[in-house]
Amino acid sequence: MALRNIVKAGDSILNKVCRPVTKFDSKLHTLLDDMAETLDNADGVGLAAPQVGIMRRLALVLETNVGEDEDEFVIEFINPEILEVSGEQKGAEGCLSVPGEYGIVTRPDYVRARAQDRNGEWFEYEGTGLTARCMCHEFDHLDGHLFTEKCERMLTPEELGMSGDGE
Ligand code: NI
Repeated sequence: MALRNIVKAGDSILNKVCRPVTKFDSKLHTLLDDMAETLDNADGVGLAAPQVGIMRRLALVLETNVGEDEDEFVIEFINPEILEVSGEQKGAEGCLSVPGEYGIVTRPDYVRARAQDRNGEWFEYEGTGLTARCMCHEFDHLDGHLFTEKCERMLTPEELGMSGDGE
């Protein structure tokens, strides 16, 4: 595995619509493994392929809603589609491509999505709370959108002491 460079806001690659993944091969698996290592190294909760310069529809989301004795785990979403959303949450959100900045974004509190796994098998996943927020944020990246387009205001330096997680 290897770390990939994270593309920063201002690079036009982050504003483009990604293409579907069609090959579920070892190259894809290497990309997913590298992205997982990059996400872990950056201490983030999500990472989308365009953030490492790959214009394909795939993203990683860290599942943080786990029991005390369980480890958080990374979900691999390939060609994801949101099937259902409900509820609403309003809170601070960040992005590994927008380091050090956080803004208030309203997102659904529940998201049900379908996607393919690394072998091309379709599955459904339900996320709540931070996981639902992160799924929306990462899937937005695949259509060229950043959270800064959806945020009602950015946090002030004084508020940053109570900021959220990087996505
Ligand atoms: Ni992001």
